Amino acid sequence: MTAVTLPAALLWGAATAGHQNDGGDSAADTTFLESVRPTVFREPAGRGCGSWERWEDDLDLAAGMGLTAFRFSVEWARIEPDAGRIDESALARYDAVVDGCLVRGLAPVVTFSHFTAPHWFASRGGWPAVGAAEDFARFCGTVMDRIGDRIAIAITLNEPNLARVLEAVLPGAVWEGIGATLDAASRRAGVPAYRAGNVVRREELDLMEAAFERAHLAARAAIKARRPDLPVGLSLAVVDEVAVAGGEARRQEAIDVRYGRWFRLADGDDFLGVQNYERMTYHADGVVEPADAERNEMGSPVEPASLAGAVRLCHESTGLPILVSEHGIATADDEQRARFIPAALAGLDAVIAGGVPVLGYLHWTLLDNFEWIAGYSAHFGLVEVDRETLERRPKHSSQVYAAEIAARSGATLEGAAR
Ligand code: BGC
Repeated sequence: MTAVTLPAALLWGAATAGHQNDGGDSAADTTFLESVRPTVFREPAGRGCGSWERWEDDLDLAAGMGLTAFRFSVEWARIEPDAGRIDESALARYDAVVDGCLVRGLAPVVTFSHFTAPHWFASRGGWPAVGAAEDFARFCGTVMDRIGDRIAIAITLNEPNLARVLEAVLPGAVWEGIGATLDAASRRAGVPAYRAGNVVRREELDLMEAAFERAHLAARAAIKARRPDLPVGLSLAVVDEVAVAGGEARRQEAIDVRYGRWFRLADGDDFLGVQNYERMTYHADGVVEPADAERNEMGSPVEPASLAGAVRLCHESTGLPILVSEHGIATADDEQRARFIPAALAGLDAVIAGGVPVLGYLHWTLLDNFEWIAGYSAHFGLVEVDRETLERRPKHSSQVYAAEIAARSGATLEGAAR
């Protein structure tokens, strides 16, 4: 067996995703879902942040903050816009992005599916369809053959458990909106069941999760066949699950339902990607919200300490090294983000000092971008993007993040293990 090459030092990065940043993602399922009526999407992604063309500006911004890693997704719909037809120009663009990362000292962290898939794939019934895992694995192989020799970390699937986590949280009206959107898409595409990765019917949660499991295993095998030493894993949406006296059983139930199957599946992986935005506190009768909490733009309480709790839970449950593959805050008030980052990182320091092997921290996200059904109404970026000109303007929080990284430069994995 070939040893896996883990990063020598803790990675500091920003996480991004193709559909949310690139613009012009015309062959993607999500673009189709944004265009049907009714749609649960507030607006279409449209031009995004124009990153398909402006990727060098984005990498310059990342390098300018002192980052050492950059996470992006390869968009299957760009590379294989029609089943079986590979667009060489799309592969060439990703090839250039990987080299662009390397010359700037950024380790390329690549997500093979960040929720989106091609329209043709969704029309065939999406992830649960017969042959879907094999189609995805073939796509992963195509990507690996082109850029696999130079990437640092592979994430097969982004948050395959997200819909499950949202099960208890999303209002009924949103679930109805999701169903209506998929009905409209199926009608317009003239297919029995149009299915997408992050617009999931509540009644299909089990079906989708089982399909994602198969896709992860097939993708991991395809990636490892090409580079056995490349760290491969998946990322999970992880809430910091906290119990107050009497709430322990409810907490454990939430952990089992939301992460149990994924913790078991990740057993053969090299790391687990943790993506944390929230905390949930259980008491005997349900979930308690802190009184008078500071809130983010989405209305959730701001809990910087939640990151540490999520990382600890995932490591204790799997024994795997952890990559914080996303963590951030939606806020139009950048000073809130500027306070949030140092507080969350102090918690992460403590977890590392306590012996948890952490491969890196990737802040979500570099630019204010397309936040799925919420459109451009949420602001997660370290950098503001003018929606007219697409000009990038770094926010104060980007300097704060840069200073936090500088203060920790030299933090090593070995250090984490001591
Ligand atoms: C996703 C991102 C999303 C972020 C903020 C994660 O669920 O991976 O695509 O923008 O959280 O909501």
